[in-house]
Amino acid sequence: MDRIVVTGNGPLSGQIPIAGAKNACLTLMPATLLSDEPLTLTNAPRLSDIRTMTTLLQSLGAEVSALNGGQVLALSSHGLNNHTADYDIVRKMRASILVLGPMLARDGHAIVSLPGGCAIGARPVDLHLKALEAMGADLDLRDGYVHAKAPGGLRGAVIDFPMVSVGATENAMMAATLAKGTTVLQNAAREPEIVDLARCLRKMGAQIEGEGTSTITIQGVDRLHGATHPVVTDRIELGTYMLAPAIAGGEVELLGGRLDLVAAFAEKLEQAGVSVRETPAGLAVTRRADRVQAVDVVTEPFPGFPTDLQAQMMALLCCAEGTSVLEERIFENRFMHAPELLRMGAKIDVHGGTATVTGVDRLKGAKVMATDLRASVSLILAGLAAEGETIVNRVYHLDRGYERVEEKLGNVGARIERIKGDD
Ligand code: EPZ
Repeated sequence: MDRIVVTGNGPLSGQIPIAGAKNACLTLMPATLLSDEPLTLTNAPRLSDIRTMTTLLQSLGAEVSALNGGQVLALSSHGLNNHTADYDIVRKMRASILVLGPMLARDGHAIVSLPGGCAIGARPVDLHLKALEAMGADLDLRDGYVHAKAPGGLRGAVIDFPMVSVGATENAMMAATLAKGTTVLQNAAREPEIVDLARCLRKMGAQIEGEGTSTITIQGVDRLHGATHPVVTDRIELGTYMLAPAIAGGEVELLGGRLDLVAAFAEKLEQAGVSVRETPAGLAVTRRADRVQAVDVVTEPFPGFPTDLQAQMMALLCCAEGTSVLEERIFENRFMHAPELLRMGAKIDVHGGTATVTGVDRLKGAKVMATDLRASVSLILAGLAAEGETIVNRVYHLDRGYERVEEKLGNVGARIERIKGDD
């Protein structure tokens, strides 16, 4: 397995290009199942998760071609000939569940493996299933698979989500585009990835309004047609790299960065003493003093502070002046980066969903273990300002969500290299 070695090397300077959003692309790709006409996605990120979704769609008989080095995805489900999403693929990536709604809406039947949990939590899909049942689907859970049928097609329904779920909102929204009648999603997720999906579906002929608010209304249509759509900028990659100059010092410009995608996060950075400035090319970030100030963080659904930036923010606060309290309200087990940061000399106390971080002057490099996608990048960020070498193992987690991290950080002056694993 590959490892990444980071050595604290002082202030950073330069530009980092931000890619298209993994979590938008992973819901835009299954949208191809809603039409037998071609769907072209541009500004697609080059990540292993995208390759996994490609494999899944191809296993269903869809065509997916990665063009222009993977930045353009040409999809067509004209040749859909299999409605079973197999466990061996689904277990690698939970977002595979997003083929369920589209397949059911298009052909009235689908068999999709239940995704199972992952490192950060049990991550059930009950809200996805309840939404589809409300639209008339007949679901039978057996042998670890959801056997879904809607022989007469899906019908519009009012679906009031008991809690905000990004994936359930996406599955329901896609299914509703071809349902008979009107669907209203209440307490819907408001993430920019939801807005991006709605915009793409509208280009395909769907009738959707309200995306970005808590109430989304979809008027079903008979069929959807092809489209070309640019994947929205990845706000989590953006936030991650905004933390690089905040942690290491210097100034970095994030190309393609948009303040509206990271408003709550940027506000927290400002409170901590980090300046975020809009430029014609994106966002410029610089730390105002030698040390940032402690701030408290609570993760919430968008537009609140994103759970996917909690681990990375903790890396910054490990060296802040004062004590910060981070409350993780979205997932039940998302502090696995804490024990690894402790190995680097951090002072962190975790009790249930709350982590209390007391800043230290400087972390010390150490061998650390990546446990999940965002935890792994938080360790790299911590290594940027640590004394000596930090060696991050199991970087396959990293490659799921970050393109060429060693190149992007290396280009702004970080001392970072990937050591190829022998397996
Ligand atoms: C999406 O996951 C993202 N993944 C996650 O990013 C992100 O952390 C999460 O949204 C929250 O923003 C993709 O978009 C591919 P949820 P998703 O449904 O849709 C519970 C990353 O690092 N829940 O909003 O699975 C769930 O357990 C990943 O890129 C149910 O109880 O998240 C969690 O506690 C990690 N039942 C909460 O809701 C359900 O049916 C929010 O989950 C669905 C969810």
